[in-house]
Amino acid sequence: MSNTYAIVLAAGQGTRMKSDLYKVLHPVCGKPMVAHVIDNIKKLEAKRIVTIVGHGAEQVEQTLGAKSEYVLQEEQLGTAHAVGQADSVLGNLEGTTIVVCGDTPLIRSETMEALIAHHNESGAKATILTAHADDPTGYGRIVRGEDGQVLRNVEHKDATKEELEVTEINTGTYCFDNKSLFETLKKVTNDNAQGEYYLPDVIGILQAEGARVSAHVTSDFSETLGVNDRVVLSQAEGVMRNRLAEMHMRNGVTIISPENTYISADAEIGRDTILQPGTMIEGTTKIGEGCTIGPNSQIVNSVIGNESTVHSSVILESSIGSNTAVGPFAHIRPESNLGNHVRIGNFVEVKKSTLGDGSKSAHLSYIGDAIVGTDVNFGCGTIVVNYDGKKKHTTIVEDNAFIGCNSNLISPVTVGKGAYVAAGSTITKDIPEDSLAIARARQDNKEGYVSKLKLN
Ligand code: UD1
Ligand code: MG
Repeated sequence: MSNTYAIVLAAGQGTRMKSDLYKVLHPVCGKPMVAHVIDNIKKLEAKRIVTIVGHGAEQVEQTLGAKSEYVLQEEQLGTAHAVGQADSVLGNLEGTTIVVCGDTPLIRSETMEALIAHHNESGAKATILTAHADDPTGYGRIVRGEDGQVLRNVEHKDATKEELEVTEINTGTYCFDNKSLFETLKKVTNDNAQGEYYLPDVIGILQAEGARVSAHVTSDFSETLGVNDRVVLSQAEGVMRNRLAEMHMRNGVTIISPENTYISADAEIGRDTILQPGTMIEGTTKIGEGCTIGPNSQIVNSVIGNESTVHSSVILESSIGSNTAVGPFAHIRPESNLGNHVRIGNFVEVKKSTLGDGSKSAHLSYIGDAIVGTDVNFGCGTIVVNYDGKKKHTTIVEDNAFIGCNSNLISPVTVGKGAYVAAGSTITKDIPEDSLAIARARQDNKEGYVSKLKLN
């Protein structure tokens, strides 16, 4: 939008969260609140986006990176004081400025667009985004005149008994004529219950000066939740979870029990994939088409191809090919790469290892720091002994090798192409291709020995 600017307020400590983590960095569906706000603002194509930082400035800047410019509010004297810090960057510009709080992660970009459109059409100097709340406790209340005209906002702590009855609340999102905003901020005082400079006072001041001010009422209160404590944080999580589940279902993903499925805001899931209950898709996970995930699986920052299944398993920071089956009860640890048509079965742990197409480890094994070719079979109970107590070593298992049950591969070691390892072997030397390695004591049958023992 032409000549639109945005300011995000993110300098507060968030005392009511009772947390070491700065409020706006608390995640909602795996993504920091302020990142939700910025990503939605990004869709507005504002000319400049300025985030006001203070508490946790470094972490906030690190989280948002180049998506925003930053201005420091050294002392947190209130939301009007916070916006005032942007004067040196935006103060002289002609245009419309939208201000959004960093603790309102649910406001959609469509709602912000509607607010800006309403503001520009009405010709108001300031437009406040409001909503009707069943329980308005804690929010600023909108005071309207007899003709319904917006007069001002009053904070909960400053409100009279009658004003506390008002259910129309300030969502903390506003649109201003940019120049009027910065001129009026200078007139805001901190003469109130909290001794703070309140941004919504700009509305009342402009109105009293005879300027046109307006309100845009949004119908969905849940969208405007301001997260000030952990109770509202969990409500916001619930709203976002439902919203994300609905988006994925509309895109062709089956979610058997949305209330028991957790999908991060940044996850991608292909059509005809089925999510069973108890599934958590976290971080930037990308899942292809036609997969079945769950029940009871956790997948974090991983990529999964098409037609694969993950049953009751944990997959962390790894990539899984297509037509691959993981679980039940498998643990795929970071930096693992499983190819296509791979099978990882129950009680198998894979760590920082690559398994080529068609390779299998169906039961009770540990594969760590290994480079495994295609169509390799690990028998039940294979252990890759990658750690000597000081260092991790690499094991190479070439294509078509067959590792017998209950074998140890002492790293570093290479099993050549097509080689066989006899069950129960402890392999300490490289095995040439096409060879059978037997590394176990020969069996000795002492005939009649048991009866002799029993006689004594
Ligand atoms: C604010 C509004 C209230 C509204 C509610 C909506 C004011 C005075 N009140 O109250 O009318 O109903 O939001 O959620 O604005 N911040 C700074 N610097 C400061 C103070 C705050 O950057 O000096 C930031 C915070 O990090 C936060 C945002 O501004 O992201 C809002 O501050 P918060 O303390 O949460 O205000 P509320 O009490 O929720
Ligand atoms: Mg708040």
